[in-house]
Amino acid sequence: SIEKIEAREILDSRGRPTIEAEVYLSGGAVGLAQVPSGASTGSFEAHELRDGDSSRYGGKGVLKAVINIEEKIVPTLVGMNALEQVAIDRTLIDLDGSANKANLGANAILAVSLATAKAAANALGTPLYRYLGGTLANVLPVPLMNVINGGAHADNNVDIQEFMIVPISAPTFAEALRWGSEVFASLSAVLKTRGLLTGVGDEGGYAPNLKSNREALDILMTAIEQAGYNAGDQVALALDVAATELFKDGQYIYDGAAHSPNAMIDYLVSLVNDYPIVSIEDGLSEDDWQTWKQLTEELGNRVQLVGDDLFVTNPTRLHKGIDLGVGNSILIKLNQIGTLTETLETIDLGKRNGYTSIISHRSGETEDTTIADLSVATRAGQIKTGSLSRSERIAKYNRLLRIEAELGEQAVYAGAIGFGPR
Ligand code: PGA
Ligand code: ZN
Repeated sequence: SIEKIEAREILDSRGRPTIEAEVYLSGGAVGLAQVPSGASTGSFEAHELRDGDSSRYGGKGVLKAVINIEEKIVPTLVGMNALEQVAIDRTLIDLDGSANKANLGANAILAVSLATAKAAANALGTPLYRYLGGTLANVLPVPLMNVINGGAHADNNVDIQEFMIVPISAPTFAEALRWGSEVFASLSAVLKTRGLLTGVGDEGGYAPNLKSNREALDILMTAIEQAGYNAGDQVALALDVAATELFKDGQYIYDGAAHSPNAMIDYLVSLVNDYPIVSIEDGLSEDDWQTWKQLTEELGNRVQLVGDDLFVTNPTRLHKGIDLGVGNSILIKLNQIGTLTETLETIDLGKRNGYTSIISHRSGETEDTTIADLSVATRAGQIKTGSLSRSERIAKYNRLLRIEAELGEQAVYAGAIGFGPR
């Protein structure tokens, strides 16, 4: 049972405060979890509690969330069985009492939820992916690697937030990682040849100034081919438009002009026609349901259409999407909803309705590698954890290498299977 919980304010990969919690069990096992933080956050996400005290960290401190753990969560959870994750998470949800975890803070709640699961896995001497996924936890995810950063993740002029490479037909996860790294190196060379900058953005991808979104795609095609891979069959492309950030007064602003929702659909269709794109995330804004439905009718049988700000890992929002026929895939971010149990429920709801899941990091990350284990545990088949630089991104890839090695002959790389419609 839970004996003690410690919480503290630490820093994320942007140097901003976030929370970590350690759960101690009576048998001696300990679980440590750290919580990430977004920049292009959806307005329907669970509440991230910050102090708002401008004398510390520009108001971004998380001492209130730490105190909520120490004074409210600890007295409630001490003595509970750490193996009963559903009961733990329900207790946290009830203790908070709000619809979006605004009272205790989703950051406080998630730190404890995850640290409890890790302590339980440690107590059983089981790796986290197996504790959560059982014997069927043997599928290594395809990484969607964000190698050109724009939008809210970089200070360049590129509108689309993420240009990703997808080593779709690699034989193993380790080989997928090698392909990605080689393309990333090749991309650096291509950018230098064109006199473009190779400084990186929040998720470790390059962040050059470019003439258009298409220029980024052209550069990626060249980088893939120059690394010796076939662009499309071997290494495909994926986008996170993060269109909520582009949406102003009913129009989408990109490539220096305002476009109607219908023009945005036509634009995305033209990109899919011209490039080997297998997945588009948040191609439209978080509340533009009607245009989302049209986009799904138009492109849903050709590419994966992923809801991030749209669904915010929330079963209620995903339900609405399923009912309306919106999207065919969901981005999964633990801190958008705030507990492990609700996250697993959302993935399950998607699965039962033919929606693929991509387990995802945030742009503000830590060295915590829980999402790597979660991706294997849920057989999600896909992970989004950034570029091939910056150790808070690489930590997740390295964890997957270890899991693949540990599974040995049992390991299966997801590849194109289960990737959704293509
Ligand atoms: P965020 O971006 O973590 O800054 O919200 C990630 C994403 O949009 O997928
Ligand atoms: Zn996104």
